[in-house]
Parts: sequence; C-alpha cells; structure tokens
Amino acid sequence: MTVQVGFLGAGLIATYHAQSLRASGADVRWGGVFDPDRDRAERFAAASGAALCRSEDEVLERCDAVYVCTWTSEHPRLVEAAARRGRAVFCEKPLAIDLPLARRMTAAVEEAGVINQVGLVLRHSPTFGLVKALAADPASGRPMSIVFRDDQYLPVQGMYGSTWRGEVDKAGAGTLLEHSIHDLDVLEWILGPITSVSARSASFHGIDGIEDSVAVVMAFASGAVGTLVSVWHDVLERPSLRRVELLCERVHVTLENDWWGPVEWLVTGNGTPTRLERDDLVAEARRRGAPWATRTPPSSRRWRPACRPGPGSALRCGPTWWSMPSTARPRLAVSPSSRRRPDTPEGCSVAAAHARDSQAWAMGAAAHGPATPSGRRSSSCCGTTPVPVA
Ligand SMILES: NC(=O)c1ccc[n+]([C@@H]2O[C@H](COP(=O)([O-])OP(=O)(O)OC[C@H]3O[C@@H](n4cnc5c(N)ncnc54)[C@H](O)[C@@H]3O)[C@@H](O)[C@H]2O)c1
Repeated sequence: MTVQVGFLGAGLIATYHAQSLRASGADVRWGGVFDPDRDRAERFAAASGAALCRSEDEVLERCDAVYVCTWTSEHPRLVEAAARRGRAVFCEKPLAIDLPLARRMTAAVEEAGVINQVGLVLRHSPTFGLVKALAADPASGRPMSIVFRDDQYLPVQGMYGSTWRGEVDKAGAGTLLEHSIHDLDVLEWILGPITSVSARSASFHGIDGIEDSVAVVMAFASGAVGTLVSVWHDVLERPSLRRVELLCERVHVTLENDWWGPVEWLVTGNGTPTRLERDDLVAEARRRGAPWATRTPPSSRRWRPACRPGPGSALRCGPTWWSMPSTARPRLAVSPSSRRRPDTPEGCSVAAAHARDSQAWAMGAAAHGPATPSGRRSSSCCGTTPVPVA
C-alpha cells in the first residue's frame, strides 16, 4: 500500500528522513511539507518533489503519516493534531520540553490508536545492537558497570546551525535532554530499568537553562551501576561521538563511534580480544540476534539539507521508520505497566517518556545536592518537573 507522507518542519532532520525514505525504496508518496520558514519549505519542496503547503492543517489533510520534525516545543501540539485526525505519526526526540507534556502526547496517541514512533535511532545502530547482545549473552556473566561518554559541539553552530537549541522555551534544556536522551534510551535498552540517579551539571556557555556539561551516576534494577557524561563543547572539527565501556563478570567490551564501530571485547579464558567494525560488525550483530542491524545504503545525494551544512560529521543514514521490526521500534506509547505504576521507572516506557523521566531525575538530583546517605536517590521523583541547575 502506498503511504502518503507529510512533513511538518523542513530542516536538517526532515531532510534526512526524506532522503532515507527515498533511499529505502519504501512505497511512499510525498503528501506535502509545511515550515513557517518559507525559504526552507520551498527548498525542501523543490528538492523532494513534495507539495508546498500553506499550513500545518493542509499537510495533515493530505497525508496518511506525518513526520513531526519541528523544534521540540512544537511537538506536542502537532502530534495531538495528527492523532486527532487519525494520522500515523513519527515524532522527533525529545517528545516535549517537559514530562507532563510528553505524557499528554502519549495519552493522545493511545486514545487515537494511531501508529506512532519517536526518533530514538540508536537502537538501530549495529554497534549498540552488538553491545546489547554481548551484555545479554549468558557466557558474559552479569553486567556490572557501564561508562558512557557522549560529546558533541554545541549545536547552535556548524551543520546544525539551529539557534533554537540555545532557547530554553523551544528546546527545554541542554545536552542531557536534547542530545543524551538517546543515551538514556539505549542504556535502558541494553541494561534494563534505571532505578536511581544522581547528577551534577554545569553551563560553560552561560546560556540560560541550557546545561552543556553533565555527569550522571545511575543504578540499574539488575544491580549494575553506570555513569553518563554528556558534553556540548566548541571543537567544531570533531563529529558527534560516543564512547562506551561495559564490564560484565566475564567480558570487557568497548564501543567507539555511534554506528560502525569498532566494538572490541575480551572474554575470560581467551587472551585475544575480538575487534570488529563496519560490515563484519553488522554481520556479528545480526548473528547474535540483532536482525535490524543493517548496512543501510547511503541516502540519496540528489538534494542537500535545506539548512547549511557546516564542519563536522554528516548525519548517518539509518533505516526508515517502517523498515524497522516492530519489536525494535521505540514508540511514543507509555507501556500498560506504566499506567499501572506511573511513578516508578519500571512503569515507564522504554521510549522517550522514560528517557525524559530520567532527565527529570537527573536534574532534580543535581538541584537538590547530594543523594541519600546510601548514595542513591529514590526513583519516586519520576514525575518531577526539571529544576533549573545553577
Ligand atoms: N533523532 C535524531 O538523531 C535527531 C537529529 C537531529 C535533530 N533531531 C530532532 O529533530 C527536531 C528538529 O531538529 P532539526 O535539527 O531538524 O532542526 P532545524 O532547526 O534544522 O529544523 C526545525 C524546523 O522546524 C520549523 N518549525 C518550527 N515550528 C514549526 C511548525 N509549527 N510547523 C512546521 N515547521 C516548524 C523551523 O522553522 C525549522 O525550519 C528536534 O526536536 C531535534 O531534537 C533528532
């Protein structure tokens, strides 16, 4: 069945999604695009062939499925409008600038019963798929600890060129919410629910409400512990990069780079580490039960992003929304268990709503100072509104 796809927002990520869709060969037609930045919308329409629409409503009228690719503060209103019309909706991460709004969106899509997904793409990365498989392998023993570092240049510059990421009313917060929501998502995807968090944050750029350096200490329900360091710096020559070190009882795993590795691991009883990247890594991830790990062909180069590319990495091409197996799709929906226990991390979705909760814990913990004497904070602050951190 041909799906009529609409776009709300015609910036960097909308262009990426449209290119990925075209490259995927999915049976789609362009339903239209709207962006209040007329120039961007025109360039997107000219490059993609999508109809240029005069309003959000016109896009929703013309499509079966819509990509919500605006800055974050616009997501809730647009997702709710799409759900009301019964449109399938893909919403970019983070869902919203605060937790109550994210939950309202979740309720809206659940009530409407529409297909939905949020753009937490790291679950489709072969590297993270392989690390998850290694963590789950009984031969590895129990996961004990994870050290996760994520850094990116402050994305109001370079290829992002998006001033809204420096405006708290549009972005909600800084590196932890806008960027490391991906990390919190894969951390729980790999190691299970986080049950307590404490954190410290700082703002070197001095942008009100936009933290740019955060250190989080986490405890997982499994008993494992971990740290996440998330930084927005000014090294424009450096692409956005992650580095992860996982220690299980009988295996040591390191991951460099988000998508193609290398991933290296050393197993008890075998003195030679295995180190894989690119096609070999994809093959191993698939062999170990991550069938969604694919070497997706590069996206079509027929048009360039409507925004100006700058130094640093180009966005990598990932799988499209409907090429993903349903089990691997992070959805907007909060799981049924979370409706039963909305104030517990176990009850939260593995998707953005949960990652947003974790952000709330982290910000709350940072604002309230040291954790309890045991070094753990209660997870019951799941619904806390993020507290600005000095
Ligand atoms: N999943 C990922 O890896 C990933 C990567 C980059 C960005 N994102 C997310 O995607 C979203 C957009 O980011 P971007 O980098 O494309 O930003 P961008 O600045 O390049 O584009 C955002 C566009 O939204 C438009 N817009 C604002 N309000 C609108 C409305 N009501 N209707 C239609 N268009 C509207 C703006 O004019 C702008 O052109 C953000 O939520 C961001 O966090 C996700």
